[in-house]
Amino acid sequence: MSSGAQIVERCRELAGVSEDAGRLTRRYATPAMARANAIVGSWMREAGMTVRMDAAGNLVGRRPGTSALAGTLLVGSHLDTVRDAGAFDGPLGVITAIALVQRLREEGVALPFALDVLGFADEEGLRFGTAYLGSRAVAGTFEPGLLDVVDDDGVSVRAALRSFGGDPANVPGASGSASRRGDALLGYVEVHMEQGPVLEERGAPVGVVTGIAGATRAEVRFTGLAGHAGTVPMALRRDAAPAVAELVLACEAAGRETDGLLATVGRLSVLPGAPNVVPGGAVAFLDVRHADDAVRGRAVDALRARAEAIAAARGLELAWDVRLDNPAVAVDDALTSRLAAAAGSLSLPDVRLASGAGHDGVALSALCPIAMLFVRCAGGLSHNPAEAVAPEDAEVALDVLAAFVRGLAVAR
Ligand code: HGY
Ligand code: MN
Ligand code: MN
Repeated sequence: MSSGAQIVERCRELAGVSEDAGRLTRRYATPAMARANAIVGSWMREAGMTVRMDAAGNLVGRRPGTSALAGTLLVGSHLDTVRDAGAFDGPLGVITAIALVQRLREEGVALPFALDVLGFADEEGLRFGTAYLGSRAVAGTFEPGLLDVVDDDGVSVRAALRSFGGDPANVPGASGSASRRGDALLGYVEVHMEQGPVLEERGAPVGVVTGIAGATRAEVRFTGLAGHAGTVPMALRRDAAPAVAELVLACEAAGRETDGLLATVGRLSVLPGAPNVVPGGAVAFLDVRHADDAVRGRAVDALRARAEAIAAARGLELAWDVRLDNPAVAVDDALTSRLAAAAGSLSLPDVRLASGAGHDGVALSALCPIAMLFVRCAGGLSHNPAEAVAPEDAEVALDVLAAFVRGLAVAR
């Protein structure tokens, strides 16, 4: 079996590790995530790495270098998923990094620097409505207050992490044991499916990422008055459902009217959720993105003003809780040029493209230089169980990554 075929096969095997029957959902610090860590950890050991879980629940496989003075290159991606996910968003990058270590071992390649393969525990933020909890711990930017954020069942990050076998006390800030601040790091490189149509349109198996768009996520809650659907006159209602519906349409309009702005409501709930009860509450999760932070900021401010006007007109209360506010992130020029040169050394076309999706590199950019390699995916589809990456494209990504680390070794 080719390395590319093994990478795809392992992604699909890991996709069977889910907390939901019949679909893939794997959230932070859950039993499914523990099972995934065990499987990926066994693949890391097979490749000759030592394996540990850090205080934040991230999986860390280590291949030492020949020189203790040459530092460490971080390579990886995330192992958590969205709800009803595909097999490749996240695991492709971790499993390709393991395949790299396996190939270096088989070819007897000694590198001066160490390789740490990272399987981040929470990039999507599905369980706690945040994002990058794992990579923020590694970057030393995990704010202490995040430990008190609770999931839909009222379980805090702290409690979830403790029962997962993590060490919450050692997660926040730069001095936590999960933090890599102060380490001699050469950078962080991530292989990730493109999650868009560009590479397919360009007929290219891989492309080098030029930057990552900024993103804002907010939980918006309208509160009115629950009542009997059969007795409360329409004119006397403080119904939260039409209010949130107005906001959803305003969000869509903002995206359609502002060039380059992507605005989404991916999660919506009407409370208490009974057909014969006038909703006293309604909650929408907004996701707003743009390559230019100023445009994104203005769009978020306008949507917040619109939500306030809707609430005032309908006699409702409004709570606007920003859960994530990430500026656009630049990749490191030197590392990215080296990644492009590695692709060029394999006679691959030099395709550069921006990322509309967020990645762990957003968090790690606070720690060290970052670079990303995108891999073509079928129809550009992602966050969908039909997402797919071809074995031959996974093989190309591995070839580029191997050429990249060899080039880095020569330069050391
Ligand atoms: O939402 C994103 O951009 C990523 O999939 N977490
Ligand atoms: Mn994703
Ligand atoms: Mn991802």
